[in-house]
Amino acid sequence: MAFSPVLADPLSRSIFKKFAVMLCSLLTTLYFLHSLTDRCSTMPSPVRASDQVAGLFASDLHDLRSVRRKRLLQKWISKPGAIYRQADRQATRYGGAMFAGSESLREEHGGDDGALRVELSLPGSVSNLDILTRDVDMRTGSPGKLSPLGEGTKKLPQAIIIGVKKGGTRALLEFLRVHPDIRAVGAEPHFFDRNYDNGLEWYRDLMPKTLEGQITMEKTPSYFVTREAPARISAMSRDTKVIVVVRDPVTRAISDYTQTLSKKPDIPSFESLTFKNRTTGLIDTSWSAIQIGIYAKHLDNWLQYFPMEQILFVSGERLISDPAGELGRVQDFLGLKRIITDKHFYFNQTKGFPCLKKAEGSSKPHCLGKTKGRVHPNIDPEVVQRLRDFYRPFNMKFYQMTGRIFGWDD
Ligand code: A3P
Repeated sequence: MAFSPVLADPLSRSIFKKFAVMLCSLLTTLYFLHSLTDRCSTMPSPVRASDQVAGLFASDLHDLRSVRRKRLLQKWISKPGAIYRQADRQATRYGGAMFAGSESLREEHGGDDGALRVELSLPGSVSNLDILTRDVDMRTGSPGKLSPLGEGTKKLPQAIIIGVKKGGTRALLEFLRVHPDIRAVGAEPHFFDRNYDNGLEWYRDLMPKTLEGQITMEKTPSYFVTREAPARISAMSRDTKVIVVVRDPVTRAISDYTQTLSKKPDIPSFESLTFKNRTTGLIDTSWSAIQIGIYAKHLDNWLQYFPMEQILFVSGERLISDPAGELGRVQDFLGLKRIITDKHFYFNQTKGFPCLKKAEGSSKPHCLGKTKGRVHPNIDPEVVQRLRDFYRPFNMKFYQMTGRIFGWDD
């Protein structure tokens, strides 16, 4: 090997080697210090006692940032080789990757819309990946790494939307999910009616992870009419808050029928299903479309286990005409700051319903899917009138019990 004349003698070579090693160490130290300074500038300020309720009462800029961080933390999960963004938590699997929470498309079978929106980005192709990673750093203190396990813990729901089917339960849940302190499973777990034997751990495992101060929620509209549901929910926790979206029982029955018709076009007409005997005018109360609308009867069952203060009734009609107003009541009931306001909604003329200006986890406007807000078939007005007469006494009883006049009999 040829050496320059200066490095020819062993002493010069040894001095040069030492110099090179020192230079390398110096450069490494400088690089390390530079990275450290960079990280420090993104570290969070010390945790204050009030941060424990930061999510609940996000009243200043710090708190709002904390709320945003919570959201980001829970929306991003890592998988070797790819970063998946869960824009809508209604998917369990996509491209073979397991998502946090097991919110699946199952609810499509339950008659709900199972919209799936997932954005997949490969590392390097995501311009905001760096910003995102910083957000994660700020909370976890592990710079530059996304937690492979996700953040928070799975908890049993503290609040449940128990009904009623076709009342507007999906709209309520979608709207509530905009709140940074609500985390909800997208699909209907049907735990307290169909899957109770699977046990509470199975149920808990379906829930999304939550951070301190966040409320876990689910919705399964059949609970309201399930005899065993109140006792079972009370056994899980007597403090569970339950929410019922109620709608004019006649319109609700027609909506229910419309949904069945969309799946089974050969079923008999609404008019013929309504009566046990059309000539005598005897209503078939065993038909679930009719049965579900006898709200006073079902409520009686719930009151055996839950005090009225733990049950909130949302008007399905007002959820359409004044979503922010109804959402305000729900946020109060859940002890949350009123973060969801009129600013979150716009009326979509084409859909004919209020929609979100920005859906949770997205910056785009979001209306409910096509299975929500279906066109109902025309029903014989005489049959509609007969049903109105049938429901009137039950409605009156229900107004009395709840202390709210829903205006279905005006
Ligand atoms: P229709 O499809 O009969 O109109 P659920 O989610 O409990 O199954 O209720 C479905 C009903 O929610 C729909 O019944 C619709 O009237 C009502 N709804 C309330 N707000 C809505 C919204 N913003 N978009 C679409 N449908 C909404």
